[in-house]
Amino acid sequence: MDALIVIAFLLVLPQAWSTIIQVPESGTYSVGSNILLKCITREENINIIWKDLEKDTIIFIGKGKYTKKEKYRNFEISSSPRNYSLIINDASPTDEGFYSCQDGDIHRNAWLTIEVLPTLTLCVNKSTVNASKPITLTTGNTVVVICKAQNIGPNVFLELKYGSGGWMKPKHSQQDSNDKPTCKVEVIHNQIQCICDANPPVKQYKIFVDGEDKGNSKSVQARHYVPANFSCLAVNDIGVGQSEVRYVSKFQGKEYFKTLCIKT
Ligand SMILES: *[C@@H]1O[C@H](CO)[C@@H](O)[C@H](O)[C@H]1NC(C)=O
Ligand SMILES: *[C@@H]1O[C@H](CO)[C@@H](O)[C@H](O)[C@H]1NC(C)=O
Ligand SMILES: *[C@@H]1O[C@H](CO)[C@@H](O)[C@H](O)[C@H]1NC(C)=O
Ligand SMILES: *[C@@H]1O[C@H](CO)[C@@H](O)[C@H](O)[C@H]1NC(C)=O
Repeated sequence: MDALIVIAFLLVLPQAWSTIIQVPESGTYSVGSNILLKCITREENINIIWKDLEKDTIIFIGKGKYTKKEKYRNFEISSSPRNYSLIINDASPTDEGFYSCQDGDIHRNAWLTIEVLPTLTLCVNKSTVNASKPITLTTGNTVVVICKAQNIGPNVFLELKYGSGGWMKPKHSQQDSNDKPTCKVEVIHNQIQCICDANPPVKQYKIFVDGEDKGNSKSVQARHYVPANFSCLAVNDIGVGQSEVRYVSKFQGKEYFKTLCIKT
């Protein structure tokens, strides 16, 4: 029973000592927004520290900017008394991270997510159109409307509005997901090839023969290596996709025949 009381006391004590009375909150913000991370103290406290935990960088001590790094040029601290709130102006994706307002051992942390809105392009029958203008369709015709979204961001979907009716979902719609490549090793003629599904497209391939890197190539000549274990990887803007290992036991390409001319 005594032990319980002691433990409870230790847990509660630092709270009581902390002069921080309003704490920062985690949140999601759009690129370009001005973000306020609250840190308000009971009395003036020149020992308050703002830290970027991911970069292990002290940004402010008291009201003074501590870091000289260019990255934090858009960071300010509130000028009003007892108000040590951090202001991040014109937030960019690089400002995403884990920030901490600290008073000695008391750390009040907040995770900031910066959302990038995608750039949208609308295409009708393969040509780009002005999305603010209505599209004229003829009854009975098939029209292909594509909504392309560039950049990472929240989900994007396509809706149609017909005349003065409400918004509706298209009858058939297909979403090409942006993902890292999915790859497999194929034997095509006398080549071992890395075949990948990728959107956005592959920027770089690599082939491995028995685990050994054979360079930035999409294919290798089978007859130089077989029998062997082949695998490959491909890189796109999202990440790296790796194939499974495929054992190729014999050379499956065409053999070369010598043509003999026999005089009779
Ligand atoms: C603290 O400072 C920020 C930025 O100047 C301001 O928006 C906020 O209202 C202030 N909060 C208090 C409680 O004074
Ligand atoms: C698209 O159409 C809107 C409305 O008609 C117009 O204000 C805008 O300038 C157009 N944009 C382009 C890129 O043509
Ligand atoms: C799109 O193409 C289809 C078939 O090629 C055609 O019937 C239709 O009129 C076109 N629609 C527009 C808006 O250009
Ligand atoms: C291919 O991999 C298998 C399983 O790891 C191994 O048993 C075999 O010896 C390898 N073959 C060659 C030709 O390296």
